[in-house]
Formats: sequence, C-alpha cells, structure tokens
Amino acid sequence: MKRNYLVVITILLFTYQQTIAQTYHEQYRPQIHFSPKAHWMNDPNGMVYYNGIYHLFFQYYPNASVWGPMHWGHAISPDLIHWKQQPIALYPDSIGYIFSGSVVVDKNNTSGLGMNGKPAVVAIFTQHDTAGEHAHTNTYQNQSIAYSNDEGKTWTKYNANPVLKNPGITDFRDPKVMWYDEGNKWIMTLAVKDHIAFYSSPDLKTWTEESQFGKDVGAHGGVWECPDLISFDDNGKKVWALIVNINPGGPNGGSATQYFLGDFDGKIFKPFTTDKKWIDYGPDEYAGVTYSNTDNRKIFLGWMSNWSYAQLVPTEVWRSAMTLPRNLNLMHVGDDMFIASKPVVELNSVAGKQQVINAIAVNPQFDLSQQISNLQLPCRLEFNAEAKSFSVNFSNDKNELLVIGYDEVQKHYYINRSQSGEVDFEKTFSEEHAAPRILNAKMIHLTIIADVSSVELFADDGLSVMTEIYFASKPFGQIQLKSDSGMQVNNFIYTPYKSIWK
Ligand code: FRU
Repeated sequence: MKRNYLVVITILLFTYQQTIAQTYHEQYRPQIHFSPKAHWMNDPNGMVYYNGIYHLFFQYYPNASVWGPMHWGHAISPDLIHWKQQPIALYPDSIGYIFSGSVVVDKNNTSGLGMNGKPAVVAIFTQHDTAGEHAHTNTYQNQSIAYSNDEGKTWTKYNANPVLKNPGITDFRDPKVMWYDEGNKWIMTLAVKDHIAFYSSPDLKTWTEESQFGKDVGAHGGVWECPDLISFDDNGKKVWALIVNINPGGPNGGSATQYFLGDFDGKIFKPFTTDKKWIDYGPDEYAGVTYSNTDNRKIFLGWMSNWSYAQLVPTEVWRSAMTLPRNLNLMHVGDDMFIASKPVVELNSVAGKQQVINAIAVNPQFDLSQQISNLQLPCRLEFNAEAKSFSVNFSNDKNELLVIGYDEVQKHYYINRSQSGEVDFEKTFSEEHAAPRILNAKMIHLTIIADVSSVELFADDGLSVMTEIYFASKPFGQIQLKSDSGMQVNNFIYTPYKSIWK
C-alpha cells in the first residue's frame, strides 16, 4: 500500500516537473525575464513591494494571445527575478475593462479600508467602457479603486466606483499614485491625451485637480500614456522625475518612455529643461514605471515589446515578456542631468561561473567562442572599450546575426536585428535602431544582457540604454568582437545565467 503511494507521488512530481519544463522552455521563451505562462500580456501594473514580496500585476487577456478585454494578471517574487504567477487579481465589470494603474500601501489608513489595524493595499486603475467607446461618447475612461486586506492575494472593488470621473476627454488614463509626505496627501499622475494632469486626495476616494503639464513640452508624436512621478536625492536636494510613456512617437518609432527632470511642489511640476530625454532608446521597452513602497530605491520595469508589432511577434502560447527590473539613478553630465538605468543586483542570484579576459586586442575581430568555454544564452557581457567604432556580433550556424555596436562618427550606439531570424511579420521590425552617446569619455563601459529572444544594452553605466527583442531559429552560440580600425578591450567579463524557471 505504502509503495503504491510512493509510486503515485513520484509520478505526480515527475509530471509536474515535466509540465514546468515544457511550459517555460518553449522556443523564444525568455529564461531570465518574466513572461505569463500563457496568453497575452502588455503593461506592468500596480508594482508594489510589501512585506518581503514584489508584486507584479499586468495587463492581461487570459483567453487569447492578442489584446482583448483587459484583466490584471498577477505574479509575485521574493527577489524581482524568480516569479510565480498567481490567480487573476481584477476582472472586467459593468464599468469596464481593467486598464493600467498603480498600487499603494495605505499605511495611515487614510481610506478607512484597512482591517484590524493592518493597512489596506489599494489599487487605482482606469476602467475602459467599450460600449461608451463604440457609442462615440468621450467619457468612457474613468478611474476606480479596489483594495486587498490579505497583502494582495484577493481584491474587492470599492462600492462607489469610479472615484474620478471623466470630464469629457477620450484619453484619460493610467493613474500612478504616490504619497506626498510634505503635503500629507496622495498625488495621482494621470495621462490625459497630450498632457499630464496632477490630482490630489486625502483618502484615495475623492480627487481634486491640481495642475496640468506638458502640452507644449517633450515628444508629441503620439498619445501620452502610463506616467510616473518619482523623486531622487541629489546631494541633499530633491529632484523630481516625471516619466511619460508615448505611443507612437518614440525615438526609434512606435512606443517608448520619455522623462522630464524638474521641481514639484505638491501642485505644479516645473521642468528644468525642455529637451527630449528617453529612459530607453530601443524599440522594446514600453509602459515602464517604478515600484512603490521601496523607499529611496527606484526600481523600474517595462513591457518588452512595441505596439507596432506586439500582436504579430511569432510566439503562440504566450505573448510578451517584461524587461529586466532596473535601478534608476540620477547622473550629472556637464551642466545637465539624466536618469541612468542598471539591471538590479538581484540578477546575481541566477549567475553562473564568471570568466574574465583581462585584455583583448580586437584587430579586426576576436572570437569569444574560442576563449570562453560553454558560451550560452542567457548571459551577460561586460567590458571597457576605447570609444572607437566596434560591434559585438551574436550568431549561430543558421547564418542568423544580431549586431550591437558603437559608431564613432555618429557618436551613437546601435542594434541591428535585420538578419536575426524571423523579422518579416511586420515591415519596420528589421530596421536598425540607434541611441545617442550622452557621456563624453575616452572609454566606454558596456553591459549587454542577452536572453534567448531579447538583448538589453546598458552603455556608460546606463546613460544610453536600448532594449530589443529578436526571434532566432536557434540560440546564438557564437560571439565576436569586431572593429575595422582595431581597438583594445579591457576587463572583459562573461557571466552565464541559469533559467529562472526551474
Ligand atoms: C499602454 C496602454 C495603456 C492602457 C493599456 C490598455 O500600453 O495603452 O494606456 O491603460 O495599455 O491595455
């Protein structure tokens, strides 16, 4: 009898492991990035850190691999790297689909929604009413709230939704809420078509407009979406950053994330400069915003796709992954200031054995595959190079090629995926993309993180960032450094990564 039990348990365990193995290891499935087990995902939503857990909610359509009636999917992680998908957090209702938004921990119980002395976790999101949209009203996007008294596991929608009604503007969405300590109030940053509107509230239930920003500033090649307002400490002085996603109108076409640095006094945001700045110049970081409740640490994460082709990419079971989580910092360059992004250190939890090459003469090329044993993806390459034209070429024996480089004449970084595998599903996908070099320094410090279907470039300590997805028929197993003029590379570090899906 006992033996029978053991046999059954062993079979069950084996089946479970097999299922995980198949589920998270399909062709193109990223191995160090979050992706849903199945079906469609877009924006990250409601990112909040609470009691040792990072929550990641996301725009989710559980019935197909294309966009549809939006729900909030949910995943949790102890370290921002290993994720476990949870039951759906929010379902569409009579007020509408559940569009993007944020989550806060209501520590002072301003909403009165806390229970037994424990703060409520409150989600603030847009509800999109398709009936209103089809009837051509202009009031079909409204802001609602829901709360959780069990640390984000289950959610109850507030009984007097919506809490912020649409004044008659077709695009009125994606509330990002934060506690503004100096003014003892909540601030909501809302995307309103071609500008940002700031609202304040004492209790998350009643909202008053404070000001508007941005009609004549920044990029306006598309609609403004998914904003965020955060602050950095700059040697004892507070500097505010207003993040605004835009679709289309990004620096390399389609959707992208711009930002403004300035002052915020609880009512009005005043930018220091009006030039265009982008958190990530690549085509495949969108709707990126930061975690709430992480004190001075600013952790940013975006959707790793582009509205130009997100619904056409050649994955079937699941569609889209998130970028790696990144730490944001302020950096001074000359008289100007920028946001720099770096992959979070928690990524070390999946790092394998590093291999170091101290000095490499690239003249005109150097084959890493011969120096590094067991070269594999996902992996990280990190090195210092002279600021001369060079490239890092990933390839396989199917003649597929992904090129990441620096152009000394144009003073820009670039990624070319035109021969990287499947590229024909949309006409702009194979175009080359560029990011300006912002830093003026003789040496370039570069970090490249390549997964089986994405590459993230962090140049000059994260001042110039590019994220790109690609679909090679076989993982890249060869890497070459190339430089026509010849160049010196120092402190080259190769780190293989283990899969986050066991
Ligand atoms: C951005 C966006 C948001 C909206 C959501 C709908 O990608 O268009 O503005 O809330 O996606 O899924």
